Amino acid sequence: MNPVQSPLKAKNAEASNTPRETITLTDNRTGKTYEIPITHGTIHATDLRQIKVDAAEFGMISYDPAYNNTASCTSRITFIDGDAGILRYRGYPIEELAEKSTYLETAYLLLHGELPTRTQLDDWIWHVTHHTFIHESIKKFLDGFHYDAHPMGMMISTIAALSTFYPEAKRIFDPESRKKQTWRLIGKMPTLAAFAYRHSLGMPFAYPDNDLSYPGNFLNMLFRTTELKYRPNPTLERALDVLFILHADHEQNCSTSIIRGVGSSHADPYSATAAATAALYGPLHGGANEEVLRMLTEIGSVQKVPEYIKRVKAGEVRLMGFGHRVYKNYDPRARIIKNVAYEVFELMGKNPLLEIALECERIALADDYFVKRKLYPNVDFYTGLIYQSMGFPTTMFPVLFAIPRTSGWIAQWEEMLLDSEQKIARPRQIYLGQPTRAYLPIDERG
Ligand code: CMC
Repeated sequence: MNPVQSPLKAKNAEASNTPRETITLTDNRTGKTYEIPITHGTIHATDLRQIKVDAAEFGMISYDPAYNNTASCTSRITFIDGDAGILRYRGYPIEELAEKSTYLETAYLLLHGELPTRTQLDDWIWHVTHHTFIHESIKKFLDGFHYDAHPMGMMISTIAALSTFYPEAKRIFDPESRKKQTWRLIGKMPTLAAFAYRHSLGMPFAYPDNDLSYPGNFLNMLFRTTELKYRPNPTLERALDVLFILHADHEQNCSTSIIRGVGSSHADPYSATAAATAALYGPLHGGANEEVLRMLTEIGSVQKVPEYIKRVKAGEVRLMGFGHRVYKNYDPRARIIKNVAYEVFELMGKNPLLEIALECERIALADDYFVKRKLYPNVDFYTGLIYQSMGFPTTMFPVLFAIPRTSGWIAQWEEMLLDSEQKIARPRQIYLGQPTRAYLPIDERG
């Protein structure tokens, strides 16, 4: 970058009449002017460092709590246009993938950048399917949990524990090792989730069935009882697969930033995935679907919706499942999920909370408070209703988010590792604490 624009360059640019891809900043403290390059509509934060009053100063930094306006990476995986309500994986619209693809094919796409050929897909499915078993010792960890332990707590712990079973996972720059850990992580997540669920019921674990599809096998491990061969209901199997596709990636959300952050210290992928799962657990992120169900149950009836909306507008509570940092329009995933919900209800019977949800949406979409703030239903608003109708307890809802998000996390983790511009994540701070002061012995303190 040029601290002060060279007169010759300026003259040439004027002469050619082409607008320069730069921004000129004037520091009013010094009167100095700085011309900073713009790339992809973005300035590089380190270009601000030359802006200083005194040569000995550290230089200007930008302050952006919660990363409202900061890109932490370049990425080629997922595209979101929040204003237009657009979501694409590797260029493919989410609506097309939800209609035509399967979760495992979509996971391959996220990880490899292209849709697989038939041979590639068969090979990929074979490997993921043959890594669904977990070490028998993992069952001992699960047995140690209290009967009412939250399954996300069990997931976070057991995913982290996997790193101790596969020490070669530390070879993060070995592509063969990364490939194997990817098969393992995507293959084992449903097994850990199902085992955590069965533990909470006190039921014996049901082992993976390699004849079944990815979602079909998950249903088998969750719900199988005495049948010799579990046959998943095709409507529920497909509904789960679509939900998995919709949850597979969402660019730089909280948990994805975490896997990139933890991964940037070169931790193994199991430890990094456990950290991302912990981030997802929070009620403002993947835990929101659980909160939506609690909220709808608390509201209790359609008649009580206006009263609840009043409390939301008074700032007492949030309308869970509404609002998004990026979407300032209807979340495209929520639109697809609403349709899936009707398919599941047709089979399982209508969820009595649906009417309350629809009334919340109807009132909110017409109310100035929500309209002004561009608050629309997000992915979590209707998923809870579907999961409940499928027989899942609310505590399993965030787990159902974590399983498919694993493919997005690993794709983003790998992209970060191979990006020569990335280093260990280490933000700056603006220190507003005490200046230097002398230590006082305890008897002299007031
Ligand atoms: N209910 C009521 N008011 C809300 C809501 C809501 N759900 N969401 C945002 N607002 C208001 C907020 O009070 C603020 O108003 P004001 O300008 O008067 O202070 C304004 O809208 C902007 O909100 P914000 O908190 O600054 O927005 P954010 O981008 O930091 O937060 C969010 C995004 C998703 C955390 C937030 O909308 C929220 O808490 N939603 C409810 C939880 C939820 O559904 N989370 C799932 C998100 S999608 C899936 C995922 O990421 O896992």
